[in-house]
Amino acid sequence: MHLVRLVYVSTSINEVDSDTLQSILSTAQTNNDAHDLTGLLVFDDKYFVQLIEGGRSAVSQLLGNLYRDTRHKDLVVLGFDVVHQRQFPNWSMQFVPTVDVTKNVLLRHGVTSKFEPYSLTHESAVAFMVEMLARQ
Ligand SMILES: Cc1cc2nc3c(=O)[nH]c(=O)nc-3n(C[C@H](O)[C@H](O)[C@H](O)COP(=O)(O)O)c2cc1C
Repeated sequence: MHLVRLVYVSTSINEVDSDTLQSILSTAQTNNDAHDLTGLLVFDDKYFVQLIEGGRSAVSQLLGNLYRDTRHKDLVVLGFDVVHQRQFPNWSMQFVPTVDVTKNVLLRHGVTSKFEPYSLTHESAVAFMVEMLARQ
């Protein structure tokens, strides 16, 4: 079975308060731990960007759940690829808010200085996520 990496963008439905976010994260961490999935979730009050890595069937199964989850909408897959190693082996699902993202980081990875994750490519999204974790 192959190791794959999924990166997607979605838009939150209504306000995602800290209780909702906490509940998403605690489900994610418990389930991901059980299925050897790892990754990072970035959220900025409107958009989610998530990178999930693990076995092809576990990631596919989760993608089905994510499409059905009514806490977000307009899910767009930026990439679903076989990879040779994990980027985030230590994190069952690490959360990173975008509060301290600087203009510099946004300009380096995107077209404008705003957080517009739908315009990221798979590669720029991965580079952005790696940088976000390094800044934690
Ligand atoms: C933005 C977002 C990210 C999520 N990330 C994960 C995740 O990494 N792992 C996971 O199992 N569920 C995640 N979920 C929840 C799934 O959509 C779904 O509710 C869950 O997999 C169902 O698990 P359950 O059958 O144990 O209730 C996420 C939901 C949202 C809205």
